Amino acid sequence: MALLGQMIILESERLKKVSGNNSEREALILLGYVMGCQTSLLQHNLNEEVSISTQNLFKSVVDKRCQHQPISQIIGLRYFWKHQFLVTPDVLDPRPDTETLIEQALDIGPFKRILDLGTGSGCILLSLLSEYPLATGIGVDISEKALNVANENAILLGLDDRAQFRIGNWCEGISEKFDLIISNPPYVTEDEMYNLSKDILDWEPRIALTPEGDGLNAYKSIFTSAEQLMSQRSSLILEIGFNQAESVSAIARENNFETVHIIKDINNKDRALVIKQLV
Ligand SMILES: C[S@@+](CC[C@H](N)C(=O)[O-])C[C@H]1O[C@@H](n2cnc3c(N)ncnc32)[C@H](O)[C@@H]1O
Repeated sequence: MALLGQMIILESERLKKVSGNNSEREALILLGYVMGCQTSLLQHNLNEEVSISTQNLFKSVVDKRCQHQPISQIIGLRYFWKHQFLVTPDVLDPRPDTETLIEQALDIGPFKRILDLGTGSGCILLSLLSEYPLATGIGVDISEKALNVANENAILLGLDDRAQFRIGNWCEGISEKFDLIISNPPYVTEDEMYNLSKDILDWEPRIALTPEGDGLNAYKSIFTSAEQLMSQRSSLILEIGFNQAESVSAIARENNFETVHIIKDINNKDRALVIKQLV
């Protein structure tokens, strides 16, 4: 049998090639996952013996990480806003930057009827519904597998009575009015895709990352059909790439919308637009 501390050193060494300076932290997270305990507890028990089956399980999850599978997919969870969300290779791993959209919605809300376009894991819609106990909403996605994950998250968070998930192409087939439409659509350009890390490129769904071409096609589709789902008082909040505020605002103007606010993220980069219909 090996000691816990020895296992951590051994597996951190293997992890260095994918996670560099983070390798020890990742080894602790993965061992904590395998043993079902917190990483702080592991650090206090480095001289404890580890059973052969735990060693083998630990090695197998480190193997996965060495194939560049993101930690969130291996452990199946990601903390977003105030809750844990199930994450699989079928959904985008929710990003801290996207929490900027939640903050903004809370600033300009409350909202009672919410449409989340490209819902993925459901993290945006479900976070907002948990903040607004009287609100209901629809999450749309073109991926049935992503919607299965969103549905599971809604059940786990006890929000399935107020969240509905529908398969669809952006706003197609939806005909009611919403006071908030919110979306983190795919916006990476086809060229930028070549620069993404293997963790992202090999493991997250391409359809969640890029609409191909110049990265703007999802915005074009949303703007051409969102108007009929909004009233003059409704808001549209869209996540954007750090260099897309101008081009997305131009598409908005062509479609009778205007950007009323550009929101910065925690790194002070443009991250979201608040958009209204032109009067
Ligand atoms: C950037 S991910 C956002 C996921 C989630 N809302 C989040 O913020 O973590 C974009 C999502 O849009 C979905 N999507 C891509 N094309 C779509 C389309 N034509 N209609 C609806 N959803 C689409 C993808 O499947 C993916 O779940």
